[in-house]
Amino acid sequence: MNQVAIFGASGCGRGVMPLARRQWADSDEPHNLVFVDDNPKASQCNGHSILTYSEWLGLPAKRRYINIAIAHGRVREALVARCAADGVVFFDIRAANVVQLDEVQIGEGSILCPFVTLTSNIRIGRHFHANLYSYVEHDCVIGDFVTFAPGVKCNGNVVIDDHAYIGAGAVIKQGQPGQPLVIGRDAVVGMGAVVTRNVPPGATVAGNPARPLSK
Ligand SMILES: CC(C)(COP(=O)(O)OP(=O)(O)OC[C@H]1O[C@@H](n2cnc3c(N)ncnc32)[C@H](O)[C@@H]1OP(=O)(O)O)[C@@H](O)C(=O)NCCC(=O)NCCS
Repeated sequence: MNQVAIFGASGCGRGVMPLARRQWADSDEPHNLVFVDDNPKASQCNGHSILTYSEWLGLPAKRRYINIAIAHGRVREALVARCAADGVVFFDIRAANVVQLDEVQIGEGSILCPFVTLTSNIRIGRHFHANLYSYVEHDCVIGDFVTFAPGVKCNGNVVIDDHAYIGAGAVIKQGQPGQPLVIGRDAVVGMGAVVTRNVPPGATVAGNPARPLSK
């Protein structure tokens, strides 16, 4: 049978497991759906076994499929490399009520949670997470391993570089055609921020209007 896993049994993984369960219920092939976690706190969660990665690799499998449900983009990338080296295939998770309009390209391994909307002419990289109620408006370009917490409002003509993390309820102002608003690589946008200008790579910004966080 196929072995299918959600990597991560914490909040993110437990939130997406029911979505994966529904998707795989439609599959004709027999499968076994479990959590994989490097530090399991229990052996079971919400009706699914929790295995370490090596235990999971030890199960007999026709094929192995996994989705990395870890919010931190850098951690997600490291786990992707580990799984890819073992020949594991990445599957997408998409809630049944996601809205996707015209000409949207999205890389492998994404998670699109309930009430996510992607409008038209959007390009998104690998292992994107869009949590509950987030949207991406027209003409945005989003890199690899980008994470949207719940309720992110990403307006049109925005570029978000690899590994950026956008906190819950952040609002990102639209850019202009040919002059996008740019959120740099590894930037962090705090929950509730109103982003009106470019955010430099690696910066953490918060507030309205969003400014670099001073500690
Ligand atoms: C911005 C963020 C990354 C900063 O985290 P941090 O570096 O640990 O910062 P701290 O919690 O130590 O806070 C530092 C200061 O910034 C303030 N601050 C933190 N986050 C803020 C935010 N989103 N907006 C405004 N101010 C914020 C704190 O009140 C604190 O101010 P003080 O020094 O005057 O007390 C974090 O607070 C955040 O917003 N993360 C996103 C959370 C989220 O969306 N979770 C979704 C889970 S699904």
